[in-house]
Amino acid sequence: MVENTGSIDALLQEERSFPPPADFAARANMSDPEIYARAAADPEGFWAGLAGELDWFQQWDTVLEWDAPFAKWFVGGKLNVSYNCIDRHVKNGRRNKAAIVWEGEPGDWQVYTYGDLLREVCRFANGLKSLGVGKGDRVTIYLPMTPELPIAMLACARIGAPHSVVFGGFSAESLRDRINDSQSKLLITADGGYRRGGIVPLKQNADDSLEGSPSIEKAVVLRRTGSADDKMVAGRDIWWHDLVQGQPQTCEPEPMDSEDMLFLLYTSGTTGKPKGIVHSSGGYLLGVQATAKWVFDLKEDDIYWCTADIGWVTGHSYIVYGPLANGATTVMYEGSPDYPDRDRFWDVVAKYGVTILYTAPTAIRTFMRWGEDYPRRHDLSTLRLMGTVGEPINPEAWVWYWQHIGGGNCPVVDTWWQTETGSIMISPLPGLTTLKPGSATKPFPGIEAEILDEAGQPVGPGGGGYLIVKRPWPSMLRNIYGDPERFKETYWSRYDGIYFTADGARRDDDGYFWLLGRVDDVINVSGHRIGTMEVESALVDNLKVAEAACIGKDHEVKGQAIVAFVTLKDQVAMSADVVTELKAHVAGKIGAMARPDDIYFAAELPKTRSGKIMRRLLRDVAEGRALGDTTTLADPAVVDSLKAQYGDEE
Ligand code: WTA
Repeated sequence: MVENTGSIDALLQEERSFPPPADFAARANMSDPEIYARAAADPEGFWAGLAGELDWFQQWDTVLEWDAPFAKWFVGGKLNVSYNCIDRHVKNGRRNKAAIVWEGEPGDWQVYTYGDLLREVCRFANGLKSLGVGKGDRVTIYLPMTPELPIAMLACARIGAPHSVVFGGFSAESLRDRINDSQSKLLITADGGYRRGGIVPLKQNADDSLEGSPSIEKAVVLRRTGSADDKMVAGRDIWWHDLVQGQPQTCEPEPMDSEDMLFLLYTSGTTGKPKGIVHSSGGYLLGVQATAKWVFDLKEDDIYWCTADIGWVTGHSYIVYGPLANGATTVMYEGSPDYPDRDRFWDVVAKYGVTILYTAPTAIRTFMRWGEDYPRRHDLSTLRLMGTVGEPINPEAWVWYWQHIGGGNCPVVDTWWQTETGSIMISPLPGLTTLKPGSATKPFPGIEAEILDEAGQPVGPGGGGYLIVKRPWPSMLRNIYGDPERFKETYWSRYDGIYFTADGARRDDDGYFWLLGRVDDVINVSGHRIGTMEVESALVDNLKVAEAACIGKDHEVKGQAIVAFVTLKDQVAMSADVVTELKAHVAGKIGAMARPDDIYFAAELPKTRSGKIMRRLLRDVAEGRALGDTTTLADPAVVDSLKAQYGDEE
């Protein structure tokens, strides 16, 4: 098994390094090595300079107001994000340039030019207004990866209605919780979406969730699969195509304050309740525009493809807002990488001539396992730059990607960031940075990241500790929706006034950052953040379960996999059927990505005397350390004896 996280000593022995190819560096959008020092000397001036590249309806008065932990950037400035992502390009000669190149899983495809995008966004924005949606109203979006998803987001941005996109893989219940927390007025969904040859029943989930979501007045339904034509609820549901029918194709963009909320996006934390991360308009857009331009080196004729789902922050920032703010061509693909065969991604790259590819380590490890024959079937020579995001990448996967996808001549940018940071924080600049496989290298100019020990002291080279960010940055989260106390407690209380990332990291002698994974109770499964508490609550919600504890264990492909330890109620017998039932129960409550890989039964969970579950011990059991192989159901006595043996240690 590959050790993806935690084995920093192995990582620090990684000695391969890759300087920027000369021809790449010569043309790179950012190739001035002084940029780091200049930004560090005057961060606010640096960000203000970049903000000048956005189109403002009204200039800001103050760059930053910092009343820790609450930041306001470009105070007094007014802008509209959809205007910046569409109109200004239409006005500046890109009307007929491809904005979105979309391919559906069944093989259907469509290109939207900037001119098309403007028309469709305006028509849908007018449709939203006709339903009574206005500035400040929250709109939940639960759509497959179709062009209507970015169109809906941009239409919300145009009228000033913050969107909350919920990933299509989430269950009805997860959707309901997110709608209720945001008190959304409108839901935008589809009858279904295509995934691995099947149909994801989005409308069915939406209907189930709306039974418990009283704030929703109307639901707009996109017809994608034709699978819910008889499921429309009279008085509540409106077809997308009916809504836009006859709508004017212009719609004035609403002038928004720089600090107005552009969107909220839910993410897992250490409690069972997901957090609605609040992002601003001006600072967020600046962060994604600048990082997309420098990290992905976007040029006029690039075909850029980020393979994420827009339901996660990567898709928000680097499929939709970052590339479109730059006037780039962004590719969107609806389905799975192995449909109809395991070369689908390479087919897409070759078909559209993709030049920049941004994907996740878990995908790369999957492709490695499938073997080189699949990429070899296609001409990938258009690629010139590649990126990864979502979890630590092991050097072997990095080098495989560089060699077999990039043909040994595309820089690989390993980008570290979070839903909360809004945009990329630690990453190479591909025209400047010498790459080391497995390292996200250095903080973006203007970002002051540091690694601290428990006591808050910076650790020296080679030392490990907690990754923090010292200064506010424009695209930082502004709050947790409706819960400023949790916002303070989660991010700003560990070290007073300093942003706590909940990631562990280490620095090497060259000052490079090596990310080690989460230090809180969040599991990163294939780049998806899942809180142990969420899975535990889903398990104890099953009537057979008395108590449950979850941990993440190292997994060769997914990075981490969920393992659950469950104590059943007295009268319930342990059986393989119960394992199957509980796995399905979690998938039904949260979504398939939260389904535990393994469930172990324990007569009792090992706890400290103060009642804290000893997760480290469970991790040892799950990974077979010191306890031999536990591939079948664990003997409850094993955990019992562990408790007796180690119970006093923590
Ligand atoms: C992890 C995704 C190592 C990290 C953009 C972080 C990474 C969490 C990397 C955020 C990377 C993301 N190297 N770890 N390049 N990128 N992570 O909010 O643990 O879905 O805290 O944002 O993913 O996940 P989120």
